[in-house]
Amino acid sequence: MFLILGIAAVVLFLLYIYGTSNFDHWEKRGVIYEKPIPYFGNFMPVYLQQISSAEFFQNLYRKYPNEKYVGMFLATKPTLVIRDPELIKNILSTDFYHFYSRAILPHRTVIEPVLRNLFFAEGDLWRLLRQRMTPAFTTSKLKAMFPLIVSTAEKLQGLAADAARTGAEVDVRDLMARFTTDFIGIVGFGVEGDAINDENSIFRQMGKRIFTITKTDALRNMAKMMFPNLFKDLKFFVPMIEDNIMAIMKSVMKDRNFKPSGRNDFIDLLMDLKQKGKISVESIEHRNEDGTAARAELELDDFIMVGQLFLFFAAGFETSSSATSFTLHQLAFHPEAQRRCHEEIDEVLSLYDNKLCYDAITEMKYLEMCFKEGMRIFPSLGFLKRRCEKAYKVPDSDLVIEKDVNIIIPVQALQNDEKHFEEPENFIPERFHPDNVTFHKYAYLPFGLGPRACIGERLGHMQSLAGLAALLSNFSLEPSKNSLRHPISNPTATVTQSILNGLPLKLVERKKNL
Ligand code: HEM
Ligand SMILES: *[C@@H]1O[C@H](CO)[C@@H](O)[C@H](O)[C@H]1NC(C)=O
Ligand SMILES: *[C@@H]1O[C@H](CO)[C@@H](O)[C@H](O)[C@H]1NC(C)=O
Repeated sequence: MFLILGIAAVVLFLLYIYGTSNFDHWEKRGVIYEKPIPYFGNFMPVYLQQISSAEFFQNLYRKYPNEKYVGMFLATKPTLVIRDPELIKNILSTDFYHFYSRAILPHRTVIEPVLRNLFFAEGDLWRLLRQRMTPAFTTSKLKAMFPLIVSTAEKLQGLAADAARTGAEVDVRDLMARFTTDFIGIVGFGVEGDAINDENSIFRQMGKRIFTITKTDALRNMAKMMFPNLFKDLKFFVPMIEDNIMAIMKSVMKDRNFKPSGRNDFIDLLMDLKQKGKISVESIEHRNEDGTAARAELELDDFIMVGQLFLFFAAGFETSSSATSFTLHQLAFHPEAQRRCHEEIDEVLSLYDNKLCYDAITEMKYLEMCFKEGMRIFPSLGFLKRRCEKAYKVPDSDLVIEKDVNIIIPVQALQNDEKHFEEPENFIPERFHPDNVTFHKYAYLPFGLGPRACIGERLGHMQSLAGLAALLSNFSLEPSKNSLRHPISNPTATVTQSILNGLPLKLVERKKNL
């Protein structure tokens, strides 16, 4: 009996030691930090889905107004939350080669096929993919896609018109998600998805599932963070996602006889890359024995292709629809700004035969300012993450950030700090007028910055402005009975932020005297 109790005590003690072994990390280095609890570190409220990660980091940021950085623990991993835009600049850009990993997953080698993509990949795999994917996002490719944006935007107007006629509340979050889902279906996969008209289309179903974090998902993620080695093989996403994307990809490729079709969509691009065979870049992870950089190689297979398609799909629709719907919400509550958008859109379109096109969108400067201001108040990604890969001495300080330490850039917090933006709680598009932009470049990060910034920034930007212009050109927006002046952030959100219960608004058809 005593023996069993004795063994139990030893086991508990060892478990305790294991769960707290890193917890003197910040104390030893003289960094101000939040006291952790075993295994959970400081992240218990997030694991329990009481608060979103972005809000958690925002609270921490606000608690230490005079620090350049604050220590904490993500599960058992020492993590540094950076408050100072100058240091953020070093991490994201100047000293990028100390911080090239995003570290959403706790282990270095990504196994799950849909996650072997540009967003989740680390090290050499990331570098190979980034180099290969960059040509897909040039201005000329973007212009070539634009007619597809316009035809999707027209379908959006049609759906909105039906809603306006019934006078019912419209969840603009859902409305914009259907628009961006269809757009990414057509430019990504070459498939007319029809999420706009069909709530149950396969693309819409996948889209909803990817960004719904169930209790089981949350539990699995927590287990992976706490015990990375034990739960290495646990997948993040349900098999339905990977299976569907694989099936759609294969059927589209077969229709094209496994050769690029000239449609310039992502499937074409990937088939094109596959034909080129093995690709190789200078390694960022390894050096040869003589000190020269080693080479890293990759051959595209079906799984790598599925991973990229998954990412373009997920990254392409969710971020833009979140940003545009939040902007619409603000405009509904700011009739004066909305009036200026209406005027500008009418004026610009009248110069282009009343048709949306690439050039027309680039002239809608006030609309763009509104969009930037919407993303300031509620950025689609509320924080950025990096992992230190090579020990880094912080300039003008004694602190050395050790290898493996997680870095958090609290975007939502920075963008809503009065130190960087006066009256941060107010929607003031004019602050983004070129004459007025005085904030630190690294205090405004809706797309990130540096070599790992958003590769789809311009595509996301143009798609968003086109959606906004299409909607605003035909409709006015007003708060409806369920609109909240200050919408509530969804506590279950992880990488991307979302709003609890959507963004209901009233759409009113505009009477234009053209
Ligand atoms: C309004 C729309 C969008 C927003 C706000 C947005 C935001 C972001 C942010 C904040 C990051 C992380 C940057 C960092 O860590 O420094 C990111 C990365 C990324 N985004 Fe976007 N994004 C948008 C649209 C898109 C679109 C349309 C695509 C592609 C179809 C895309 C593909 C990616 C990829 C591949 C990465 C990872 C890049 C890398 O690690 O090298 N995004 N995005
Ligand atoms: C949008 O407005 C334009 C110009 O007033 C009009 O021609 C078009 O039919 C409208 N679209 C929809 C779907 O109501
Ligand atoms: C700059 O900002 C101020 C205050 O928000 C505003 O009154 C002014 O119109 C802005 N300037 C421009 C050119 O938009």
